Amino acid sequence: MRDINDIQKLFKEYLSQHFFHQQPKELYDPINYILQLGGKRLRPALALMSCQLFDAPAEKALPVAYAIEIFHNFSLVHDDIMDEAPLRRGQPTVHHKYNINTGILSGDVMLIYAYEYLLKTDNKNIQPELIRIFNQVAIEVCEGQQMDMNFEQRNDVTIPEYLKMIEFKTAALIGGALELGALVGGASAQDARNLAAFGRNAGIAFQLQDDWLDAFGDPAKVGKKPGGDIAQNKKTYLILKALEIADSSMQKELMQLLSDTPKDEESKINRVLEILLSLEIPDKVERAKTEFLGKAYQYLDQVKGAPAEKLMLQHLADQLANREF
Ligand code: IPE
Ligand code: IPE
Ligand code: MG
Ligand code: MG
Ligand code: MG
Repeated sequence: MRDINDIQKLFKEYLSQHFFHQQPKELYDPINYILQLGGKRLRPALALMSCQLFDAPAEKALPVAYAIEIFHNFSLVHDDIMDEAPLRRGQPTVHHKYNINTGILSGDVMLIYAYEYLLKTDNKNIQPELIRIFNQVAIEVCEGQQMDMNFEQRNDVTIPEYLKMIEFKTAALIGGALELGALVGGASAQDARNLAAFGRNAGIAFQLQDDWLDAFGDPAKVGKKPGGDIAQNKKTYLILKALEIADSSMQKELMQLLSDTPKDEESKINRVLEILLSLEIPDKVERAKTEFLGKAYQYLDQVKGAPAEKLMLQHLADQLANREF
């Protein structure tokens, strides 16, 4: 059994051997650029850990883990265009470093390579099932992304709608990484489904933390433009909770702030942050994360697997929900 450091090392080695050296370089350079910018490599780690939970060597799940990481990075390249984000992992986003057309096409081809790697899995019998799950997840990610964009224009988004949106755009892929890794490792369909549900609930906590970091994180660690969600009028949990508990005049002010795109972005962001703090929203985010992590652990409990390895997954989920970047 490999520990988390070993797992990360294993994936890093595989990645370094599978950069894109094809031509034309205008298409592939941006892919290597975004992939080598790093990131936490969370999803591949989950896939590899999930595989070894069923006594299979983690190596078996490397192509699937890479497929998921390529898909994730593709989604970030397009997400940064959609969110007009200048920074990712502390460096210029692909469309800022190159241009929007490059972001679109390099992103598109990444999605196709994700399938190429998915199909490299040794056990051909499970291929149709891997593709079915991957497709379902990929469709949900796109649906969640569209909901996220739609919500920018609305000021009547409910918390259940928000939770469905983040389950689709973020948590589905985290669940998918665990489910696919488990199937490659030889898990029963039931265990794979429980791991997916564990990942979905932990993934919701992960996105709640992402929303919090966007507003209150240390910019040097987060590596994204601070307050980007507020500038884009995103209806994050922070905003929705604030709208729920604010008195009517503050509610009005917040709605006004978030339906505008003023030249002076800075003052808008600062005023929204002030309101969020005055309503103790960070505490409420903590509570929501704890609730979803609790649900996640209930699903993990039901998985048949070595307790020590399940504990590793539990720790990882906990760390991710409390991450600083
Ligand atoms: C960013 O994902 C996008 C979200 C779903 C919140 P990560 O926070 O996993 O990004 P990297 O890969 O570690 O940079
Ligand atoms: C990203 O959500 C979800 C996907 C990429 C599908 P965010 O827009 O919150 O992610 P960041 O904050 O830009 O990483
Ligand atoms: Mg987005
Ligand atoms: Mg974004
Ligand atoms: Mg975000």
